[in-house]
Amino acid sequence: MTVPPAPRPNPWIGAIAPYTPGEAKLPGGVEPIKLSSNENPWGPSPVAIAAIRAHAHGVHRYPDGAAHRLRERIGFLHGLDPARIVVGTGSDDILQLLPLIYCAAGDSVVHVRHGFMVYPIAARRAGAEPLAAPDRDYVADVDAILATVRTDTRIVYLANPNNPTGTMIPPAELARLHAGLRPDVLLVVDQAYAEYQDDPDPDGALALARTAANVVVTRTFSKIYGLGGLRVGWGSGPAAVIEALNRVRTPFPTASVSLAAAEAAVADQEWVVRCREANRTERARLEAAIGALGNHGLRAVPSAANFVLVTCPEAGPFSAAAIKARFEADGIIVRHLPGQGLPHALRISVGTHDETGRVIESLARLAA
Ligand SMILES: Cc1ncc(COP(=O)(O)O)c(C=O)c1O
Repeated sequence: MTVPPAPRPNPWIGAIAPYTPGEAKLPGGVEPIKLSSNENPWGPSPVAIAAIRAHAHGVHRYPDGAAHRLRERIGFLHGLDPARIVVGTGSDDILQLLPLIYCAAGDSVVHVRHGFMVYPIAARRAGAEPLAAPDRDYVADVDAILATVRTDTRIVYLANPNNPTGTMIPPAELARLHAGLRPDVLLVVDQAYAEYQDDPDPDGALALARTAANVVVTRTFSKIYGLGGLRVGWGSGPAAVIEALNRVRTPFPTASVSLAAAEAAVADQEWVVRCREANRTERARLEAAIGALGNHGLRAVPSAANFVLVTCPEAGPFSAAAIKARFEADGIIVRHLPGQGLPHALRISVGTHDETGRVIESLARLAA
């Protein structure tokens, strides 16, 4: 019997390791403390919630596919030309479109070894090869990134602060990275966690994206703005890059309710400041509790974001798997990262004051 031919995906699609989201449920149906996806535990601004409610009656209309009002508000806040901003279905959307524009099958894309999982997926979607540059003690290493770039490299991705390490390189290092790249290589600086710093452009990437012909910055409403479920992100860069993104993006990437919420959220910077300060306080408590277990081999990698990477001994009661199991028994979900080359590490998102207290109690039980 002959098997009839079936549709076959492009060969490079089979090489994609699908994105694994943070776990959200525990067995037994208990409502867990979810610290596995770097969300804002304080939620969105009340003004954004009101905007969502108010917009409910308008959802029979298509959204503004070009997100005019949101781009204006973002442009005003960050001193950017709204014409050089593109809004997407989360920043993932924009990160994923760039290789489709700039890479041909067989080209390469560079990212940091312990980096955001979306970059290799984005590269492979376009048939490009993702190349991982080694980091140094969980910090992006500019020299290693530059040494990894090949003649067929079209894009370098850098999350700054980085996920899952939480580390950040300063403006001078970012400038050195940019200066070391060929002008035809696109540098994509993913500032998903930038709002957790006081400086509105903490690594200088927005300033670079205003002037350089090969720098794009992406940001998201999923982190400090607390709107992960509504999927809004944006990118800004040279007019030619934005123009290309506008050609390939879907016509209505962002739902109307999502746009309404994001427009309101941008206008409430007081909420952003409060969340930044609360995050800093709770992150310091978490880092101190982990630091106190240093004699058991735990270490908190210094974080500039809303999560902490904890490195653990390979085995024993303080191994990453053992701590994860303890947390789960106490109703807490964190992220274990063996698939990202970090079998000895956990990533713990910063929670509310009470949630952080529960994490600290759980760690204390382990040490008792
Ligand atoms: C570094 C980094 N970039 C981008 C994103 C994705 O954000 P969005 O929800 O806007 O797609 C995340 C989410 O975890 C992230 O950690």
